[in-house]
Amino acid sequence: MRKLFVDLKERAYPLYIGCEIVKNFKNYFKENCSDTTKIVLFVSNTVSKLYKQVIDESIPYDLKIIISDGESAKSLEYANTIYTQLIQNNIDRKSLIVAFGGGVVGDLAGFVAATFLRGVSLVQIPSTLLAQVDSSVGGKVAVNHALGKNLIGAFHQPKFVILDINLLKTLPKRELVSGLGEVIKYGIIWDEAFFEFIDRHFQDIQMLETNTLTSIVEKSCNIKCAVVSQDEFDQSLRPILNFGHTIGHALEASLKYSGLRHGEAILLGMKTVSSISYKLGKLNAENFDRICKLINKNEIHTKNLELDIEDVIARTKVDKKILSGKVRFILPGKIGEVFVTSDVPTEILCEALSELKKENFKQ
Ligand code: NAD
Ligand code: GLY
Repeated sequence: MRKLFVDLKERAYPLYIGCEIVKNFKNYFKENCSDTTKIVLFVSNTVSKLYKQVIDESIPYDLKIIISDGESAKSLEYANTIYTQLIQNNIDRKSLIVAFGGGVVGDLAGFVAATFLRGVSLVQIPSTLLAQVDSSVGGKVAVNHALGKNLIGAFHQPKFVILDINLLKTLPKRELVSGLGEVIKYGIIWDEAFFEFIDRHFQDIQMLETNTLTSIVEKSCNIKCAVVSQDEFDQSLRPILNFGHTIGHALEASLKYSGLRHGEAILLGMKTVSSISYKLGKLNAENFDRICKLINKNEIHTKNLELDIEDVIARTKVDKKILSGKVRFILPGKIGEVFVTSDVPTEILCEALSELKKENFKQ
C-alpha cells in the first residue's frame, strides 16, 4: 500500500493507494476520524450490488443511502431528499459521510457533507478511474444547475481517500475511457514523460493491468496533490486542471448530459483547445499531432450524436472560470505545459469546433 498526502495544513489528508485495500477501511477510519458518532454510507446503485460483500465485511454504517446512477442525481432536488433522510435519522455534526462510487456519488455526497448542519466529515472511496484520479481528490464538491454543470458547490476536503485499484476491474470499457480522459489531461498540462508513459502503456491500461493502473492513478494523484496544495481555492494555478473542461462541459450540457460520459467530453474538449492553440501558433504541429493521436486512440461514442456548434459556443459562456464576462481558455503551449488566455477569437473557436464535428460527430 502506498500513501500520498494532500498537503493543506490543518486540512491535510492521506490518500491510500493499493489493491484490495477497502478491507482496511476500519483501520484508516480509526487513524483519521476516531471521534465520529454515526457513519452514513452513500453508494451508487450499481456499486452497492457489485460490492455488497465488500461493504458488508468492511464498511460499518448506521444509515445507507443508495444513489441512482446518472448525472441527474447531482441536483439540489436530489440533495434535498437526502437532507430529509439525514434529519429523520438524527444524523449529527460529528457524523461521517462515506462516498463509495464514481464522481457522481462523490460530488453529491461531498456537497451534502459540505452543507448539512454547515458541514460534516467526508471520506471518499472512489470506484471509477475518473473518480480515483480526479474527483475524489482536492475537495471540489458540487451539484448541477439546469443552466450549467457543477455551478452550485463548495470546497470540502475529505478526511481520507481510499484508492483501491481492484475496484477498477469491474469498470465497463466506456467508463475506463472516460477516466483516461482525465489521466491524459495530467500528461498534457504537467508532465510530458507521463504523457509518453500513457501512450506506451495504452494497451496495458485497456487490459486493466494492475501495475500500470496503479502507476497512472498514483502519478495522476501526485500531480493533482501538487496543484491543489499550491492553490486549494482555484485562485491561481488550479484552473489548469480544467484543461479541456470549458468546451467539455459545454458539449455535455448541449447534449443534455446524456450523450457523452464526462471524460469523453473532456477528451473532445482537449482536442478542440489543442487545435485552437495550434491555429493561434502557440502549439507546434508535432505536439498537436501527438496529442490528437493519443486522444484518437480512445473510442468515444459520438458517431450517432448531432453537434450544434452555436449552442456549444453559447454554453461556453456559462463557465465557472469566466471573469468580467470573458471566457478563459486553458491552452497547451507544448505537451507538459499550459497557459490561460481570454484571447480566443470566436472564428477560431468556431473553426476548431467545425473540425471536431466533421471528425467525430454525425454528419
Ligand atoms: P459516474 O459516477 O456516473 O460513474 C459511472 C458509472 O459507473 C455509474 O453507473 C456507476 O454506478 C458505475 N460504476 C462506478 N464504479 C464502478 C465499478 N467499480 N464497477 C462498475 N461500475 C461502476 O461517473 P464518473 O465518471 O465516475 O464521474 C463523473 C462525475 O464526476 C461528473 O459529474 C463530473 O462532473 C464529476 N467530476 C468532478 C470532479 C471534481 O473535482 N469534483 C472532477 C472530475 C469530474
Ligand atoms: N477537477 C478540477 C479540479 O479539481 O480543480
